[in-house]
Amino acid sequence: IKIKIIDRDGATHEVDAPTDMNMNLMEVVRSYELAPEGTIGICGGMAMCASCQCYIESAHDLPEKSDDEEAMLAEAFNVKDNSRLGCQIHMTPELEGLEVQLAPEE
Ligand code: FES
Repeated sequence: IKIKIIDRDGATHEVDAPTDMNMNLMEVVRSYELAPEGTIGICGGMAMCASCQCYIESAHDLPEKSDDEEAMLAEAFNVKDNSRLGCQIHMTPELEGLEVQLAPEE
């Protein structure tokens, strides 16, 4: 699927994200090197660091947040109504055209 990712410098990247590799959004950002190593995915995708926080800018219906994701976002900085943890968003065909912005580094 094609998704748009706005990096922390405000640049927009349209990238191809595979849906058959069980990848999450944090891993997609890392695979395209859209955030420096060590600034995203610090906990390895366990919903325990919020370094992968992003803002969902498109009107996609995403799966509900898990309790772990809710709890982490409750403690994170720069949280908005459209904040999600990228590591908890798995790439599925329904997310074609998704647009997200990376939250500032904490
Ligand atoms: Fe740590 Fe997503 S990578 S919460």
